[in-house]
Amino acid sequence: MVSAVIDEDTWESLRKAAREAMARAYVPYSKYPVGAAALVDDGRVVVGCNVENASYGLTLCAECGLVSSLFATGGGHLVAFTCCDQFGEKLVPCGRCRQLLREHAAPGMVLDMPLGIGTMDDILPQSFGPEHLNEARKRNNS
Ligand code: THU
Repeated sequence: MVSAVIDEDTWESLRKAAREAMARAYVPYSKYPVGAAALVDDGRVVVGCNVENASYGLTLCAECGLVSSLFATGGGHLVAFTCCDQFGEKLVPCGRCRQLLREHAAPGMVLDMPLGIGTMDDILPQSFGPEHLNEARKRNNS
């Protein structure tokens, strides 16, 4: 699969959007704000920040907010993704969020990570997705 090619200005504006979202995080428990930003295949930029809860397990990661915003603002697929901590340092998405992003990634989506630009396949190889459900449905109906 061919990876999306994102120029450095675009990465910088996504990183800035992630930092701005990070500054709005609600993190009274961990005090670990995270911001995420992504370019959508129609040119929109969507962002998210983590939102914690007194019932700790209900915490919404920044990526959850970003995916909700993706749909709330018109849908589409993610082409390029970045997320950062309180110092503006790049982060990798947690395991659950890798699966979440996988479902809404455009083919060839690229992620801006501490060790460099990578793809969903780099961080979630041999992953499970909707096509597995569709395949099983087809076999059941044939
Ligand atoms: N967090 C995210 O928002 N995204 C990730 O991919 C990693 C973890 C948040 C959840 C929690 O509010 C805080 O970081 C500490 O785990």
